[in-house]
Amino acid sequence: MCGIVGAVAKRNVVPILLQGLQRLEYRGYDSAGLVVVNQAKLERARSTGRVVELTQRSAAITGHLGIAHTRWATHGVPSERNAHPHMSDELIAVVHNGIIENYEELRTDLTAQGYVFTSDTDTEVIAHLVHSFYKKGASLLHATQSSLAKLIGAYAIGVVAANNPEQLICARKGSPLLLGIGENENFIASDMSALLAVTKNVVYLEEGDVAEIGIDTYRVFDAQGKAVQRQMHVSELTNDSVELGEYRHYMLKEIYEQPQALANTLEAVCNSQSLVPGIFGAEAAASFSQIDSILILACGTSHNSGLVARNWLEEIAGIPCNVEIASEYRYRVSVANPKTLVVTISQSGETADTLAALNHAKANGHQHTLAICNVPESAIIRQSKLRFLTRAGPEIGVASTKAFTTQLAGLFLLTLVLAKLRGKLTSKQEQQHLHDLRHLPSAVQAVLNLDTSISKLAEKFANKHHALFLGRGLHYPIALEGALKLKEISYIHAEAYPAGELKHGPLALVDKDMPVIAVAPNDTLLEKLKSNLQEVRARGGELFVFADANTRMQSSDGVSVMQMPEHAGFLSPILHTIPLQLLAYYVALQKGTDVDKPRNLAKSVTVE
Ligand code: G6P
Repeated sequence: MCGIVGAVAKRNVVPILLQGLQRLEYRGYDSAGLVVVNQAKLERARSTGRVVELTQRSAAITGHLGIAHTRWATHGVPSERNAHPHMSDELIAVVHNGIIENYEELRTDLTAQGYVFTSDTDTEVIAHLVHSFYKKGASLLHATQSSLAKLIGAYAIGVVAANNPEQLICARKGSPLLLGIGENENFIASDMSALLAVTKNVVYLEEGDVAEIGIDTYRVFDAQGKAVQRQMHVSELTNDSVELGEYRHYMLKEIYEQPQALANTLEAVCNSQSLVPGIFGAEAAASFSQIDSILILACGTSHNSGLVARNWLEEIAGIPCNVEIASEYRYRVSVANPKTLVVTISQSGETADTLAALNHAKANGHQHTLAICNVPESAIIRQSKLRFLTRAGPEIGVASTKAFTTQLAGLFLLTLVLAKLRGKLTSKQEQQHLHDLRHLPSAVQAVLNLDTSISKLAEKFANKHHALFLGRGLHYPIALEGALKLKEISYIHAEAYPAGELKHGPLALVDKDMPVIAVAPNDTLLEKLKSNLQEVRARGGELFVFADANTRMQSSDGVSVMQMPEHAGFLSPILHTIPLQLLAYYVALQKGTDVDKPRNLAKSVTVE
């Protein structure tokens, strides 16, 4: 979704802004723009193309203070006039992430005051509001604070004024924003990856904070306008972790990073002899002893990981578990059980619906909250009592891969810890699970060796328009995840069904043009799944079966069987995810789509 970069320096900031925007491209956008202050004038360039096009358009622009933006359209179509920065009277320029809910009312007021709107965006009201206070003599900081007081909604903003060549004002509420602290230069960004080339020192703004940034100073004020100190951290992100390196796409790189990402996520546990609640936070033991059920809230891929976890939690830990789509839960009237542990799962930790669902749960009286998340300092982490950080490293490809499998690893640990506390795990079982977890990275590595075979299989999908994914039990959510991956990046319409539901509808769709992909691990449901697959074959449907080594399934006419190296028991969903990620990737390559930045999608959905 939208991205922000800003800089104030003794050197020309345009290359810094452009490089930052390039780093933010992965979040998804449809237009980009920047503005710099140069000799008391605002110089702006905007484009509906990629950042590389904006780079060409800004070739003649230089300045020591500037703000830049990638836009993912919400109010108003993707167009140059709607691209940020938005300006007021050639004096004030603003970039904004988020949504201003009362913008129509503000627009009417500002129009009555004589302001002329040149875009369809909600953001433009902020530029005119700041202008209205600034022209009456308020400082840029106070003009921004007075403007923010009038806004209802979510925002991260950057503001500059033409006659204020060394000052950048920024603020956040509901959308992430951080300060990058350099030597004789300071920065703002919605995501640290944008600033890695210029600094590693980061100050995370908190909800409602407003900051005033100069070349060698910065001051932060809280929502009440009181000056506050916010701690400076040194980012652990490395440039390499956000570089493509030898890979053609980030998605492929991230699929291949899974053995290491899993090893990192499991490091503390795999190096110890037993499982302790403390891996979920200091207060975990106390919380876990008070709970009698689990409620998982998440969106997209993270929701699919929750669906897998429900099976583990109920079967291994014997604890009732519900999984809800965050955007539904937040508006649903539900019955809260104060003894429920609310688990939010989110790669980014900033997904607006998941955050709102967490706050809704808290407002409903839920006190036990746990975030499983890939981004330290994210809003979801900060607003939850307990936390587990997946250590997948930055995920750039919009289609989530390593974040998903590391979430599963974290959720499996949660299951084991709860099972142990509830007396459902013998010491022998605990040791066996720890042994399996230590083996997991190499088991995933072995599945990656199927790469070439899967790329060949993908050729058969190039001309297809639909696909059906089937799975049962623990692997039904993996079928869902496989279908989600395929539709996200290849634009093939893909649906997933629990295989037992086949004859209750989807079988009507099966013919030779509808490939059916089956997730077929060697578990107790295998024989039932095989019967379901017969039903498909009998209707002329072409089958692609991902089976374990000893399932005794053979390829035959219309049936392609891909043998997985081993059966991983409860951890099998993690292994079975990998070939479906590769399949989606190679089908997208066949179709020539933009793998890392699929149309209309955003990496981090920070608006509702
Ligand atoms: C977007 C992304 C998905 C992701 C979902 C939830 O839709 O494109 O890949 O699964 O958001 O994101 P989160 O960061 O909360 O896991």
